[in-house]
Amino acid sequence: MAANRGREHWGSGFGFLMAAIGSAVGLGNMWRFSYLTAENGGAAFVFLYILMLFLVGGPVLIAELAIGRGAARGPIQALGFYGGRRWKILGLVFVSAGFLIASYYSVIAGWTLRYGLEAIFVGFDPKPAQHFGEVSTGLDALAWHLVFMAGSLWIVNNGISSGIERTSIIVMPMLFVVVCALALYAATLPGSGPGYQYYLEPDFSGLFSRKVLSEAAGQAFFSLSLGMGAMLTYASYLDRTSNLPVQGGIIAFSDFAIAFVAGLVVFPLLFALNLSEDVTASTLGALFITLPKAFLELGIAGRIVGTLFFGALVVGALTSLISLLEVVVASLSDVFTLDRRQATLWTGGAAALLGTPAALNIAALDAMDQVATNVLLMGGGLALAIFTGWVMKEPELELIAGSKRYRILKVWVPLLRYVVPVILAFIMWGSVPKALKAVAALF
Ligand code: PHE
Repeated sequence: MAANRGREHWGSGFGFLMAAIGSAVGLGNMWRFSYLTAENGGAAFVFLYILMLFLVGGPVLIAELAIGRGAARGPIQALGFYGGRRWKILGLVFVSAGFLIASYYSVIAGWTLRYGLEAIFVGFDPKPAQHFGEVSTGLDALAWHLVFMAGSLWIVNNGISSGIERTSIIVMPMLFVVVCALALYAATLPGSGPGYQYYLEPDFSGLFSRKVLSEAAGQAFFSLSLGMGAMLTYASYLDRTSNLPVQGGIIAFSDFAIAFVAGLVVFPLLFALNLSEDVTASTLGALFITLPKAFLELGIAGRIVGTLFFGALVVGALTSLISLLEVVVASLSDVFTLDRRQATLWTGGAAALLGTPAALNIAALDAMDQVATNVLLMGGGLALAIFTGWVMKEPELELIAGSKRYRILKVWVPLLRYVVPVILAFIMWGSVPKALKAVAALF
């Protein structure tokens, strides 16, 4: 169908996959996943997460890929293309979500960069909790946020194949190797056994509460970069020979695999060093406080392992942030016919500004995260499922161009029509008020 002529393209299918996996794999995998797993019943949560991937994440991922490739435009124009003017509003919500997430994500990414460089050049601070308190908010945090944002913009400015694709092809395989190597190292530590037990022993009590279900589905969305058009935008640079169902499967599986292996690094490490009580500390802080404690105790090995760990986090965060920025850049260029350089400058300047409150006040960062994940991503996913299932004509035709009629695809539209909306509405009933409370508490 009407693919835009002259639009940029991925250099190869592999390049697209690395970029899409790069978007998916980020802070969400390296910490959020293992933390949530520990909190919500170990292997039982992993099971529920996989279920949510199949029932909710997978169908929405495939919908984004099909719409993006079919329309060959950013989210606003793509939804307008298939649904008429009214649906452009949903595209606008997507772009706003991408913009909001990019702003605070860059603040956290700035912390990871600082920790990575400190690990190399000065070692870990002997008082990790105090250190985190000092560097996570205030002018320091602001400066690192700006540095990280500038680096990401530079890559985005270089374009799809020579910026985003080239970066992802180099760094994603490295990230994969490093995370696996770290998991092997963690297995050699004496006393790591109970860590595996804690992580992997199922505890089925309370599994089907709304809270646990909500965490599992929310994580599936955040981790797969769904509900804000990142996958849609990346797919808009594909051609019609690519096999979307298979590519979607590879993206979802890789995202899960890296999260799972990251858990095999974190838990054995913390248990081997008797830091297991710290596991239940706050999500974000714990990564930056407990792990440095562990790395400190391991001496020189810890410095190497810590450098690799934070290096992997930097890479994960970088490839995710560039996908967030690309959503906004692609839309600005589509809607206002700006060139890439102008669109990148506007996006970056505005995102740097919006990230400032998050850098100066951690409660603001938390509130932004809650609104983004629980309201915008889930709401975006819900609306997109309804759009694809009920409004779009023959979505299967867009999906299967370039692939086969896999039998499993028969359930795709029914899932989007009935299952995804019901599950997401049920979850949002509880999570939206919570997010709004976090915002209200700021004022
Ligand atoms: N998926 C990324 C992560 O796990 C975060 C992200 C969310 C990126 C939404 C893009 C869009 O860290």
